[in-house]
Amino acid sequence: MLVAPSLLTADFLHLEKDVRMVDEHADLIHLDIMDGTLVPNISFGFPVVAGIASIATKPLDAHLMVVNPDKWFERLRELGVQYVSFHIEASGCKTGRFIRQAHKLGFKVGVALDPDVKIEKVFKYVGKADYILVMSVFAGFGGQKFIYETIDRVSKLKAEITRKGASTLIEVDGGVNPSNVKALAEAGVDIVVGGSAVLGAENPAAVIKALQEA
Ligand code: DX5
Ligand code: ZN
Repeated sequence: MLVAPSLLTADFLHLEKDVRMVDEHADLIHLDIMDGTLVPNISFGFPVVAGIASIATKPLDAHLMVVNPDKWFERLRELGVQYVSFHIEASGCKTGRFIRQAHKLGFKVGVALDPDVKIEKVFKYVGKADYILVMSVFAGFGGQKFIYETIDRVSKLKAEITRKGASTLIEVDGGVNPSNVKALAEAGVDIVVGGSAVLGAENPAAVIKALQEA
């Protein structure tokens, strides 16, 4: 399992310390970018991403929880971000166009969806997007409880990926921890995001390792 710790629950007064720790142990670094409109919260913006990018060696995975996500693709790419995902709730019928736009800039592209969006809605993008980001909590806040129905949604998505023979990966985000990661791995998840379970742990490196071994 690839592990992408989310910096949303990092210690922002000592962000460098958390970035270096995550960078040393994890596979990707997950950046939650919120605009207070698509989701009821605001996180951080470009100056913070630039700071993180200046010391990170692992790929940066930007999760855009914003309306008009395409507006920010170029700027993120300039900062060196390699993975970008945006919500289908924000992109609607422009999803295909946004995927092509982000691909042109050289991104690995993900389509994200909240737990109340039918999983079948993203089937169209299997084989087009590089990954599907299945939310296992409602986007907006770290530290929420994992929604178990996610496992079933992932299984359905995995079946569609297999049916198409596509190489699209599955990333799951929200409430992931060492006790539910095994079920996610069995359902076909390739990448997990870990926020509070990782950064709130006494030994974050050990939690990252436990998630990777699932
Ligand atoms: C929620 C974010 C998640 C979140 C994960 O909107 O997309 O990435 O930070 O944090 P935990 O693992 O605490 O749910
Ligand atoms: Zn996220």
